[in-house]
Amino acid sequence: MSSEQRVAVITGASSGIGAALAGSLSRRGWHCVLLARRADRLNQIAAEIGAEIEICDVSSAAAVSETAARVLEHHPAIGLLVNNAGIPSHGSFLSASPERIEQVIRTNYLGSVWSLRAFLPGLERGRPSGVVNIVSVAGTTVVPDAGPYSASKHAQLAFSRALRAELKPLGISVLTVNPGPVTTEGFPQTRLINKRSMRWTVLTPERIAEKIARAIARGKSEVVFPRWMRIAGISTALFPSTVTRVVARGDPGRDVELPKDGEGE
Ligand SMILES: NC(=O)c1ccc[n+]([C@@H]2O[C@H](COP(=O)([O-])OP(=O)(O)OC[C@H]3O[C@@H](n4cnc5c(N)ncnc54)[C@H](OP(=O)(O)O)[C@@H]3O)[C@@H](O)[C@H]2O)c1
Repeated sequence: MSSEQRVAVITGASSGIGAALAGSLSRRGWHCVLLARRADRLNQIAAEIGAEIEICDVSSAAAVSETAARVLEHHPAIGLLVNNAGIPSHGSFLSASPERIEQVIRTNYLGSVWSLRAFLPGLERGRPSGVVNIVSVAGTTVVPDAGPYSASKHAQLAFSRALRAELKPLGISVLTVNPGPVTTEGFPQTRLINKRSMRWTVLTPERIAEKIARAIARGKSEVVFPRWMRIAGISTALFPSTVTRVVARGDPGRDVELPKDGEGE
């Protein structure tokens, strides 16, 4: 790491969007610290892009606190924190196990809260600095088959928007990213990929990572990728009863992949 390089901490960087974003940020000159639970995967990615790793379960406030203390000892000033770690619910409010429902909330929502609080002193020392929260289109609309996941993303979206107002006076920016379907290990999007007419709606992690890196560089505050999927959040905000009725009656999500089950986001 050179003395001029700024430090980016990325949670959930052992695969998918987090790993791809680490690559995009490294190519743009960031020194990345990669957080996740799987050491082997982190080591492999870190070796490829010249990053550091920390094994950390973001669903544990204590683990995040210990990890942040270790990182901040070596890197007192942090330029960017990316809250990306996330898991699917693998079911609805009726079919998912109670343990899974808890873990989804602990990881997708509380993991972002604990990481922000733990790394905040570093972000303050690194000002002008920024936080990126990888939320989801599922945080903006009705997703009956993946209700627990969608609820965790609604909570994370509220966190991200409130945080933007709270951190602005401190000189720390917040970017909320709401991706549509992206094919990854946790969210393979098999149903969409297998349907030739819908395959085009699914992004690759590398493609969305480049879009996120550009949004960071441009100082954006909230983005939806692909852009046309903003319609999901807009229509739900304006006509919640109608959208709920349509989703309950039909099966539009199977085509449009407003995430329908735990696997498909
Ligand atoms: N793919 C999509 O269609 C899509 C759409 C909208 C939003 N998103 C969001 O994008 C983010 C990244 O997901 P992805 O699609 O890239 O899935 P992915 O490839 O499965 O990656 C998830 C990452 O989160 C990490 N993770 C999970 N639980 C963790 C925990 N308790 N502590 C630390 N790290 C943890 C995983 O690493 P370890 O298992 O090694 O810990 C992995 O690196 C998630 O927040 C997801 O909700 C995805």
